[in-house]
Amino acid sequence: MKQIAVIGAGTMGLGIAHVMAQHGLKVILIDLNEKILTESKKIISINIDRQIRKGVINEEQKKITLSNILFTKKFNESIKNVELVVEAIHENFNLKKKLIKDLDSMCKSDVIISSNTSSLSISNLADGTNYPDRFVGMHFMNPVPIMPLVEIVVGNNTSQKTVDSIIILTKQINKTPLLVKDSPGFVANRILLPMINEAIETLSQGVSDVSSIDQIMKLGMGHPMGPLRLADLIGLDVCLSVLKVLEKGFGDKKYSPNHLLVKMVEEGNLGCKTKRGFYGYDKDVKNPYPIKFDI
Ligand SMILES: NC(=O)c1ccc[n+]([C@@H]2O[C@H](COP(=O)([O-])OP(=O)(O)OC[C@H]3O[C@@H](n4cnc5c(N)ncnc54)[C@H](O)[C@@H]3O)[C@@H](O)[C@H]2O)c1
Repeated sequence: MKQIAVIGAGTMGLGIAHVMAQHGLKVILIDLNEKILTESKKIISINIDRQIRKGVINEEQKKITLSNILFTKKFNESIKNVELVVEAIHENFNLKKKLIKDLDSMCKSDVIISSNTSSLSISNLADGTNYPDRFVGMHFMNPVPIMPLVEIVVGNNTSQKTVDSIIILTKQINKTPLLVKDSPGFVANRILLPMINEAIETLSQGVSDVSSIDQIMKLGMGHPMGPLRLADLIGLDVCLSVLKVLEKGFGDKKYSPNHLLVKMVEEGNLGCKTKRGFYGYDKDVKNPYPIKFDI
């Protein structure tokens, strides 16, 4: 593959565009929101500078990577030439379904469409489109430039040819593809989100505070980051929607989102992206301070 489109320039879309462009693919990065597009360009540049400091990439490669990405608000003619679309818009079934259906008439007939959904059914998203055989889940992990895994979610109608192409591409961008069936939360989030929810439950019962809960999981379990800090990084809105999908998909109350998580999302405290979640990021993004909750 040489040309791809990434739709949604948020946390995930900008990371996916960055990695694809770094490995020589021409990327059209599309977002409806002009401000987010401008911001995404800045963040990609900052993230590449971090890679330069670590010696992963040099100044020349930075120029090439940035020049490989076209930041645009428009679903214009150029999307007709892409071989792959990676959809990374909000985790909302109806929004994604509409976009995916619209792509039917915008793209060429052999394009592969993939979704970066964290939890929604790949088979249901593809249902009713012209291309259920060419639809697949590419579940990248956050932060995309750093995390080596891509869960490849195989829907009921995804063809072997599509899976093979996506495995090749994933290896080409230096990631590890692992195949999973189309089941709520796939593998990663089915295991991770109940742990995060339990950490929030522990906090909301006043068993311990934000900092101690995270430290316990870091120092005691060897996790590189505590579950509450990780929730902030993922986005509390994303955590909430994945838990709802798990609860509905399995019909099991054990996945029911904790009330504190629901409240924080209602209040717009979504973690790093709004500068406030379980930690505050408004003073120093690198050294967030734990929030004191009145329990
Ligand atoms: N955040 C994570 O840690 C994480 C990890 C893996 C997968 N995911 C999944 O990736 C997807 C994106 O998550 P995110 O955290 O990057 O979300 P985000 O809210 O940061 O970004 C979503 C972007 O999509 C844009 N958008 C919405 N509708 C659009 C449309 N029709 N056309 C073009 N742009 C549109 C929005 O303007 C926004 O910039 C979700 O499905 C999420 O579940 C998230």
